[in-house]
Amino acid sequence: MSLEIKNITVSVEGKSILENFSLNIEKGEIHALMGPNGSGKSTLSNAIAGHPKYKIERGEVLLDGENILPLKVDERAKLGLFLSMQYPPEIPGLSITNFLRTSVSSLKGKKQHPIQFHKDLLLCMKELGIEKQFANRYLNVGFSGGEKKKLEILQLSLMDPKYALLDETDSGLDVDALKTVCEGIKQFANKEKGILLITHYNRILEYIQPNFVHILINGKIVETGDKNLAVEIEKNGYKKYI
Ligand SMILES: Nc1ncnc2c1ncn2[C@@H]1O[C@H](COP(=O)(O)OP(=O)(O)OP(=O)(O)O)[C@@H](O)[C@H]1O
Ligand SMILES: [Mg+2]
Repeated sequence: MSLEIKNITVSVEGKSILENFSLNIEKGEIHALMGPNGSGKSTLSNAIAGHPKYKIERGEVLLDGENILPLKVDERAKLGLFLSMQYPPEIPGLSITNFLRTSVSSLKGKKQHPIQFHKDLLLCMKELGIEKQFANRYLNVGFSGGEKKKLEILQLSLMDPKYALLDETDSGLDVDALKTVCEGIKQFANKEKGILLITHYNRILEYIQPNFVHILINGKIVETGDKNLAVEIEKNGYKKYI
């Protein structure tokens, strides 16, 4: 069982960003993806999730054997795919409670009972150190960078997908928030889940030990290693690849 990205070519606004890109994420594996700004990391995660601007011209993405490319974003999510966005959007008028209850109901194909759901939500929020007043706030509106990232992990916990693409979930977090968010990710991660963790920093990988670290340069994986590779990148940067 895996999320298998097979020879995909992705273009954005007519510009080719990834060519013949392949990566296989087995259940139970955590893959970290590092690379300089603009190397194509978010393009990869957006394209897999089904963002309409990111066109997969060739190749396949198989989720437990099923090609998800013909599917719409919500259909991919229903199969168990989750994207934590680098820049989560603000949606005025949509409360967090309504958003999450509707999303979980839709994903599970079963209406969530408002009272029970609220209880579960508050419990999850407490674990992530999110104050309960946030439940009534509009989605991401006026949230600090770190609060938005915590909310992404709250969604991850409640939606409980099979495969999670986490795009810079560690960015903008203070030291304590990073620990809390990592606890959330660790609780989610188990042998039934596959994770792609996009990051610029080794710090998060000290909490969440990846099985593999990949270096993406200009849309291509140029090296794959273990967590020591992330340590080396933090020390020496990407100059040896460029
Ligand atoms: N919606 C878009 N419209 C135009 N160009 C885009 C768009 N999205 C990505 N690109 C271009 O594709 C290239 C790869 O961008 P991408 O966001 O995937 O990089 P990244 O590796 O995630 O960088 P960062 O580390 O800064 O987040 C960049 O040159 C970027 O300008
Ligand atoms: Mg990015």
